[in-house]
This record gives sequence, structure tokens and C-alpha cells, in this order.
Amino acid sequence: MSRPPLTPGPLSPRRKVPREIPRPPYALLGEPPAPKAPRARTAQELASMREACAIASDALAAAAAAVAPGVTTDEIDAAAHEVMVSRGAYPSTLNYRGYPKSTCISINEVICHGIPDLQTTLYEGDIVTIDVTAYFEGMHGDLNQTFAVGEVDQASKDLMEATRRALDVGIQAIRPGGQVRDIGKAIEKAVRNRFGIVHQFGGHGIGPDFHDGLHVQHVYDRRATTRFFPGMTLTVEPMLTLGRPEAQVWEADGWTAVTVDGSRCAQEEHTVLVTEDGVEVLTRHVPH
Ligand code: MF3
Ligand code: CO
Ligand code: CO
Repeated sequence: MSRPPLTPGPLSPRRKVPREIPRPPYALLGEPPAPKAPRARTAQELASMREACAIASDALAAAAAAVAPGVTTDEIDAAAHEVMVSRGAYPSTLNYRGYPKSTCISINEVICHGIPDLQTTLYEGDIVTIDVTAYFEGMHGDLNQTFAVGEVDQASKDLMEATRRALDVGIQAIRPGGQVRDIGKAIEKAVRNRFGIVHQFGGHGIGPDFHDGLHVQHVYDRRATTRFFPGMTLTVEPMLTLGRPEAQVWEADGWTAVTVDGSRCAQEEHTVLVTEDGVEVLTRHVPH
């Protein structure tokens, strides 16, 4: 069966988080604190962050295991939610700026922030990005990966492979004393004009805040001169497109970002730590 157009669907009832699980400050009213300048993590913060990243990674693995033709995006969201709450973590996206679900699930031309619903199902040949963020002991860990649903066309395979490479080279460009713009520079060089690189969304500093004041561009931006220092934690999360990289957000839900030209998009995200002599990846992808 061929895939019908993507449209906003009805949502399942609000998922429950056991009352003993500590919430981030925005969980009740939806408004995160004003962005702060990035600072070095303490040893204790880092230990908690490693666990937040491990939980998010395991939740992504559970979500990935549910990927199959005919499965609804709500079912995939439920699988990730279950892992997070069973490990004592709060699904960071729940009520973040009013976002209604525990993951973002973005199919084909959806770039990011697709909202899991009861009606949207996966079709053979789709590509689907699942983005999971967990909040544990006051710290966030954030990752995503794009998966193939059954057999996908060669262009989609190439796109996914290039996106993985963009993530890898972007991360390897990070070193203490280096600058944020090194990431976009390395990604542009690796992608070599073969794919679009989304510039309207980026990575971010992460830690006690889901998104802090550090913005990470995946294209070269001369002005991104903030320097990396040991103890800094951030995400790298390039979004590559088969066509033009311009994004627009669905008016109907205020979240779902799609390519303007309808071309497919893949994304890969890790949370990383700047070390004394380089960089360490804190999250863990599902093996290919
Ligand atoms: N996890 C996404 C990121 O990589 C952010 C999702 S925010 C939400 O930064 F509100 F859309 F859930
Ligand atoms: Co992120
Ligand atoms: Co994310």
C-alpha cells in the first residue's frame, strides 16, 4: 500500500508519569526558564547526565524495536515512554512549551517535532526519525536516529548514511579551545553539496536545562565563535534533506516541521561532553 499524505491526527490521552518521578520546572505550566550561558558540569551533574543519556538511549532502542509497517506513531511513543518512567526518568518533551507527547516522531518529509498520534501509521519504504529526551536527577539526555521501515529506496539509504557521517564529523570537530562554527564547517565539507543541510533548527547546550543558551548550527556560520571548554555538554543533531533544506511548520499543530519542497529528511543526534583533550559521546544509538 502506498502512503497517504501526512496530516495531524487525534492524540491519545495524556500519558501518566508516576508522582514520585521528579519533574523539570516547565512540566506543570509548559514554560522553560530563560536560556542561560553554558557552564562546565560538576562531577555529580555529569554522573546524573550519563544516566539520563543511558535511559534515553534504551528508550530509543525500545521505540526502534517497535518500528514496523502498520504500527502507529502513538504505539512507538508509548514504548519509549514506558522505558523512561520505569527507570525513574521524566520524558523531557512532555509539556515542554506545551508539546503533548514523550517523543518526536518524524516521517519522510517531516524534518523534526512530528507529534505521535493514533492515526499515523508507518508504511514500508518510509524513513522515520525518533527523538527521545530523558530527564533524570535534574539532568537531560537527548538523542535521535532515523530508521528505515522495511526496504527503502537507494536515495533514502544514501541520505541516512550521509546523515550519520555528518553527525560523526560534526562531533569529531569538537575540541576544547575550538569554536562552535567548527561543527558546521566539518559537516558542510563532508556533505559536499550532495544534500541539503537544514539551517532553521540546530543543536543546543544541554544539562540542567533541555536547551540552554548555546546554539549549534550545522552549517558554517562565521559568527558562531563561542569556544568549547572542558565540561561543556551539548547536542549535535544534523538534519539532511534530499532536496532543498528550507523548513516550514504546520499551522494546524504549531510543531510539525516539514521540508518546503516535500523532499525527505533524515536526522541523527547525540549528546556529547567536551573533555580535556577532545569529546566524548554520552548517548548510544541503536546498532544498524
Ligand atoms: N529533542 C528535540 C531536540 O533535539 C527537541 C524536542 S522539543 C519538543 O532538541 F518540544 F518538540 F519536544
Ligand atoms: Co536536541
Ligand atoms: Co532531540
